[in-house]
Amino acid sequence: MSDDLLTQRKAFKELQALPESIPHLADLFADRPGRGVEYRVEAGSLSLDYSKQRVSDPVLAGLQQLADEVDLPGRVAALFAGEPVNISENRAALHSALRTPTHRLPDHLQCVEEQLQRMTLLVDKIQLGVWRGFSGKRITDVVNLGVGGSDLGPLMVTQALKEYTLPAARTLKVHFASTIDGSQLFDLLEHLNPETTLFTIASKSFTTIDTLSNANTVRSWLGSYCQDSELLHRCHFIGMSASPEKMSAWGLPEANQLLFWDWVGGRFSLWATIGLPIALSLGMPVFRQLLAGAHQMDEHFRSAPPLQNLPMMLALLGIWNVNCLDIRAHAILPYDGRLKYFPSYLEQLEMESNGKSVTRHGEPLNYATCPVLWGEIGANAQHAFYQLLHQGTQPVASDFILAAARYDSARHYAHYEELVAQHELNIANCLAQSRVLALGNAAVEVTDNPFRHYPGNQPSSTLLLDQLTPESLGALIAAYEHKVFAQAVLWGINPFDQWGVELGKQVALQLQPLLASCGDATEAQLDSSTQSLARSIQRLRQAQRGDV
Ligand code: F6P
Repeated sequence: MSDDLLTQRKAFKELQALPESIPHLADLFADRPGRGVEYRVEAGSLSLDYSKQRVSDPVLAGLQQLADEVDLPGRVAALFAGEPVNISENRAALHSALRTPTHRLPDHLQCVEEQLQRMTLLVDKIQLGVWRGFSGKRITDVVNLGVGGSDLGPLMVTQALKEYTLPAARTLKVHFASTIDGSQLFDLLEHLNPETTLFTIASKSFTTIDTLSNANTVRSWLGSYCQDSELLHRCHFIGMSASPEKMSAWGLPEANQLLFWDWVGGRFSLWATIGLPIALSLGMPVFRQLLAGAHQMDEHFRSAPPLQNLPMMLALLGIWNVNCLDIRAHAILPYDGRLKYFPSYLEQLEMESNGKSVTRHGEPLNYATCPVLWGEIGANAQHAFYQLLHQGTQPVASDFILAAARYDSARHYAHYEELVAQHELNIANCLAQSRVLALGNAAVEVTDNPFRHYPGNQPSSTLLLDQLTPESLGALIAAYEHKVFAQAVLWGINPFDQWGVELGKQVALQLQPLLASCGDATEAQLDSSTQSLARSIQRLRQAQRGDV
């Protein structure tokens, strides 16, 4: 039997006996008035209130024992020391090095600062208008071509920190195109000027078909305005990848290549040169502040004991919810319009990392791992899926994310007062929802009307930020990254590989020529559903082209 299995842990077996002893959250609050103050963890500008989780002192003691039994602090030390924690690919996972201050990086990691310096030079050139398009005009628009980790992180951060844009960066508009079908490009290319548009090709592997298809389409679009291909590659493309050879083979000159390394996982790569669109759109100093905030969280994660450690608590509470309370769904609810893309960013971070069913040594698991995770801006989701949270049949754990202060930098704005009032309303909604989810009818009224019955007892945590700043966002993202690692340690799995996404890519490559050539779907030894769908698509396309 594997040493990695959660179900073999003594502490876990003891924890499994505890759910029965946990009263309804309304009773937990009634019985212990200090709960809201005591069940809380602080980490710099972030705090985690977990008093609305269905936990008690014995549960916390059990979670502490579990952390000790798996030697969570020791495993964190191994992560930071650069040990090959990604066993299946024999790689380190050193994303923390990307935000470590240069003077604290060992010699073999000074490459991190070298690339940041190269990135700074490129950003300056572009923002100052020294970098010119093929006809000599300055760049006005940048389009990032990338998908997954090469898209979601930069997109999320760029949107979240817009109000921190430095004056030098205001000359540029930064756009994102990720979808393999070209829809986003189709919209963008209609409006963009080829003479003044720069494309950043973000791909760790530089083999991802989604990104390369977009890059090839764009190159052909530019080619219809300028036939000098060498000039186009030099003036209109920058690549960010761990494969300089593949970037060169695509035609990118060395000066247009920004590097990172195989020890940076794709979904942990926004801190590397994949963050170029962040620096272009907000300014390099803002990007550095983001790194500094993440580094503060790294230090907290490495040093705080498990029950005072914010990422470890997120992880331990997740294990309690999934494996002891059998809660298999997790909602991410930022009460902040700026964090619009945070849920989709976390969907990849958590589910691509921990959506696993074998241990890190490849043995099958006999328990659940990553829950289904989804989310939306909280106040909007109130008008969408909260009905299910309040009165559905599905237990769901939620993370509420909220910034206490907002609009401080907009005091000069004519409608400042109105916006501040809106933020108050937003806060009231956030607190009201977590309160009603926890307490149910006990929050205000008792009723016999079955349609107005709120059972409550839906657990949640509230992550409170002083304000949303580059530093606090960096810390928030790093907290979730570390939660994912800590949870993987507890589950005994490897969060740093993603073999599950490979097979679909291979099969798509087999199917594509069949569709393109209108080949005989029947002969391709496909299942009957795929055959029938392929034939229908072929017929529909022929009809549209007028071939029949
Ligand atoms: O297919 C999944 C994945 O490999 C992700 O892990 C990654 O973030 C994304 O594709 C993009 O990969 P790349 O940066 O190599 O283009």
